Amino acid sequence: MNTAQFIPSELHFSITKASYTWQTPSNIALVKYWGKSDPQIPKNASISFTLNNCHTKTSIGFQKKEGTKEIAFELFFEGEKKEAFKPKIAQFFERIKAYCPYIFEYDMVIDSENSFPHSSGIASSASGLSAIAMCLMSLEKALNPSLTGEYINRKASFLARLGSGSASRSIEGPLVVWGNHPNIKGSSDLFGVQFPYKVHSNFEKYQDAILLVDKGEKQVSSTVGHDLMHNHPYATQRFLQANDNLGEISEILQEGRQDDFINLVESEALTLHAMMLTSNPYFILMKPKTLEIIQLIWKYRKDTGSKICFTLDAGANVHVLYPFNEKETVNTFIENELSTFCQNGQFILDSVGFGAKIL
Ligand code: DP6
Repeated sequence: MNTAQFIPSELHFSITKASYTWQTPSNIALVKYWGKSDPQIPKNASISFTLNNCHTKTSIGFQKKEGTKEIAFELFFEGEKKEAFKPKIAQFFERIKAYCPYIFEYDMVIDSENSFPHSSGIASSASGLSAIAMCLMSLEKALNPSLTGEYINRKASFLARLGSGSASRSIEGPLVVWGNHPNIKGSSDLFGVQFPYKVHSNFEKYQDAILLVDKGEKQVSSTVGHDLMHNHPYATQRFLQANDNLGEISEILQEGRQDDFINLVESEALTLHAMMLTSNPYFILMKPKTLEIIQLIWKYRKDTGSKICFTLDAGANVHVLYPFNEKETVNTFIENELSTFCQNGQFILDSVGFGAKIL
């Protein structure tokens, strides 16, 4: 695999002081990434909708420093110094240092905030790490102005992946594929690529309402969950199935087949959780209210003929997906019937978005 393309060959300019601010979104997988090998290589390809309203805003101030032996940074989250988040970011810088050797030359001050409520159970690693990656690429562009926009996005996704796999899908939008797949032109295990084919209008401006069922700390982190896919009795079959599903959803999206979309997306969500139920040790991230919401979505679909469906990430929250032309009716259904199953009645109305924005 060609990782050498991400090692900067020459940096033309010297910069003493700079600051960049990026806003990057969260994303929700339709075909799930669950299982990886070193270094952050997915066991199967995945595809996600990029979100619009759930995002992280991050500024990094760079100030040239004396020595170049250590990576030096301060971290502020929502205005306050956050020592607790430092180890994850330090590990990220360790992983990317060969590709961004210039980080050794600066004192960095990272300032980050999320648009979604803190500890909402919405994973912030995808938006958080992609935002840092974009800030680093802005510095690299200043050091080497010949870099193209395409290279910058690709390398940002490559870097973000080394921090958190799903973060590789948070640079562009509205649909991003990460993981090498024979039917997806340009796809790679190293970085996410925009879904390269024309998507049917049925899937334009798709809506995602995130129902906050449980805002507590997860009992099992994604990292541990991924790890449990090694030696999992159903792993081999699951990775094959996910790749088949990716080939299938690619056609569904192009042809506008809504019922097949519902079937595939809900099956992916339940299969992800089935992998958790059958890991050793086994674990359950869904809550009783997750299941109650799923039942109500199914009933609503049956009663009304709606094209509503759900997906889940590695937690208890439910992502409700529905077409743009059902926005009013489904929002009313969520407000009137589903919100009572959410913690403090909280949910977030979101829709597909287009990726990272410089501020
Ligand atoms: C269930 O990207 O959070 O959301 O690479 O260890 O940081 P790491 O894992 P992470 O895993 C996401 C898993 C998922 C499915 C998905 O987003 O594809």
